[in-house]
Amino acid sequence: MTARLQRLRADALAAVDGAADAAALEQVHVSFLGRKGALTEILRGIGGLAPEDRPRVGAEANDVREAVEAAADARGIALRGSEVTARLLRESVDVTTPGRRIARGTRHPLAETIAEIDEVFGRFGFVVYEGPEVEDDVTNFQMLNIPVDHPARDLWATLYVDIDDHLLRTHTSPGQIRVMRETRPPIRALLPGRCFRYEAVDASHGFEFFQVEGLMVDEGTSLADLRGLLDEFAHALFGATRATRFRPGYYPFTEPSVAFDVECVVCDGAGCPACGRSGWMTILGAGMVHPVVLRSGGIDPERFQGFAFGMGVDRIAMLRHGVHDVRLFMENDLRFLEQFR
Ligand code: PHE
Repeated sequence: MTARLQRLRADALAAVDGAADAAALEQVHVSFLGRKGALTEILRGIGGLAPEDRPRVGAEANDVREAVEAAADARGIALRGSEVTARLLRESVDVTTPGRRIARGTRHPLAETIAEIDEVFGRFGFVVYEGPEVEDDVTNFQMLNIPVDHPARDLWATLYVDIDDHLLRTHTSPGQIRVMRETRPPIRALLPGRCFRYEAVDASHGFEFFQVEGLMVDEGTSLADLRGLLDEFAHALFGATRATRFRPGYYPFTEPSVAFDVECVVCDGAGCPACGRSGWMTILGAGMVHPVVLRSGGIDPERFQGFAFGMGVDRIAMLRHGVHDVRLFMENDLRFLEQFR
């Protein structure tokens, strides 16, 4: 019986060594040590031995079981190790391969320009308000000193809405009236928003566009305050050394009215096609709030003065980014927008 046990041990150890994978090893384990395996088979014969031989043979059988068990465990660990290695090789990733680009959204150049304008005027205490895109004739025109049938209406080609006297606001200036009626001086308000005009679309005109309006009302507010503020603004957006100037202008709601020019950002004042060879570019209209407009807003012009300005965001974004056609801002072609990161 001892001889049979030793043969079993040798056969089992050889089989364990030869097991190629976990499944084969399990098979070997079952056939030698399992409930119906070879070792059990031998142990059944123990009962036929002389009683004094039984303990010795039992111990030998246990030795064999332990030896085979230990070999199987070791083989199992080795197999699992090589399986892991094989799997790692199979599933390995080359981390040096260039990644696929993830499409990220970008801020629209107009939104980004408005945010920049908000930020600069915010430093001077200006707070953002918003008025409605559908306005009434009274607020868009009449309260701004533009009566019905006044020739100045021709400055704004208006799109009318079919309800009462409503229209799509032609500028953000009606926001001045709304702010004055809703708050008290001192007022420092910024009013960004979309405007609409009945105009033929070309490279420099859209029928919809964005403006940012500014309004300051306080005791003793002067044209010099306006000039100082606009200089800070121009320097923040177009460079600290950029020259600026006021030219006389005309708006019914400001008196005096001015056009604010900056040294051409394309040629730095030398004169080029972009600035009509003048060396200057007009970036906004402004002036001292007309007493009629202050009164429309419920403010006493004897006590308070104010200035207002209004700028086209599209134009400023074009200058900042060297874009030559406003239509690009509205078409939202991703190839265009992706360039603003
Ligand atoms: N509302 C004027 C425009 O649309 C701009 C402006 C605003 C001028 C405020 C003076 C003061 O052209």
